[in-house]
Amino acid sequence: MKRKIFCSLDIGNSKLTAVLAKAEKQRINILATATSPVRGLSKGRVAELADLVDCIQQILDKLSSETGINIKSILISVNGDYIHARYSFAAVALSEIANRQISLADINYLRRQAKLLGVHMDETILHEFPQTYILDDDHSTFNPLGLLARKIKLNSYLLSASHTLLGNVKTAVQQAGYDIEDVLYSGVASGFSVLSAEEKEKGVLLIDLGACFTSLLFFKDKILRDFKIIPFGGNDITDDISKSLELPWELAEDLKKSSLVLSAQDPKASDKVVVRRFGSYKTLERSAIYEAAKIRLEEFLGKVRSAIHSSIWKDKMTSGIVGVGGAANLEGILEKIESSTGMPVRLGHIKDVSSGGGALGPQFAAAVGLIYYSDAKNLPSLKSYLMGKTPLERATNFIRNLYQDYF
Ligand SMILES: Nc1ncnc2c1ncn2[C@@H]1O[C@H](COP(=O)(O)OP(=O)(O)OP(=O)(O)O)[C@@H](O)[C@H]1O
Ligand SMILES: [Mg+2]
Repeated sequence: MKRKIFCSLDIGNSKLTAVLAKAEKQRINILATATSPVRGLSKGRVAELADLVDCIQQILDKLSSETGINIKSILISVNGDYIHARYSFAAVALSEIANRQISLADINYLRRQAKLLGVHMDETILHEFPQTYILDDDHSTFNPLGLLARKIKLNSYLLSASHTLLGNVKTAVQQAGYDIEDVLYSGVASGFSVLSAEEKEKGVLLIDLGACFTSLLFFKDKILRDFKIIPFGGNDITDDISKSLELPWELAEDLKKSSLVLSAQDPKASDKVVVRRFGSYKTLERSAIYEAAKIRLEEFLGKVRSAIHSSIWKDKMTSGIVGVGGAANLEGILEKIESSTGMPVRLGHIKDVSSGGGALGPQFAAAVGLIYYSDAKNLPSLKSYLMGKTPLERATNFIRNLYQDYF
């Protein structure tokens, strides 16, 4: 029977986001959401295990007590510079003399080989995106099932994570008392909730602007084609404001959210902001806040531009750029990315969910995406097994594929 209730947790570098949801026929019904600052994590790595365990317990307890639902296992998404992407190749000879029909077992074997060959020591594969299958050196296809060939090659794109560093995050979840159902990279998870199938088919670039990292995910033909991670996020802008204006970090963070506007025109010196610092009030020029952030922001925009230009997929992103993550809320940042890259940019909106409490912000993209992913995985996919003209042919194919799959 199809499962109905899902719980997800996005473990970001600035906050945890948790969602409890019920899968209805056509949409995801959100039962409860929670977000809280994260403790015990530093740039994706566990720095204080007990703090992280405590945060996870608190946020999931909140969801449980709000809904009365006992949460046992959860889906998690993670982010950090211990995530790597690379291509991997595998090939298999199907038959020595004549050609033969490609079975699911052949495809699974090839995919397993590509994973084994592409993974480094101390790495775990998080995602595998078969790019193309090449039959007999000259016929390329996305779905070779049932086709005739003598040999078959696969080019696969892998996202992997350091086994040890990811293991530490998983340990925190387990010590908090939860089983882990699945682990996704947070950018991939966000793709499930904010991108349409049509955009992914035509070509779209998802940019996740987080606290410590900005990641770029290039989708085309419904699959991930390229991935880049830039070690710069919204917190770096806060650092700059805090240092340059000699303000406590939390105050700089508030100022960034409330008063930093990255528009085409620089703010006028006459625009003032009043802040409360060490018990007394101080007047700051809005242009000073902008100046504090400007240099590194320009540097950051340059990095985004060169990450896009270094991708062979850049010209295929015909549906433009979709921005998610907390720092996508920074006023004017998406316009800056648009003018700097020359590509249309829109803010990612979470699609087709009913949340009762109004629209969910882009900060929930990864947590909701985890639920989309898990719900889709739940659907039985018999299409590939059920090929054949007559019921007898389909039944024979079904049994043959099952047999080849498991024996
Ligand atoms: N309204 C806002 N205006 C400007 N910046 C904002 C706003 N809301 C959040 N941010 C910034 O977004 C960043 C956090 O983004 P997000 O919540 O996506 O991070 P995360 O998922 O915890 O981190 P990461 O993706 O790097 O692991 C912080 O730097 C925060 O200051
Ligand atoms: Mg994030």
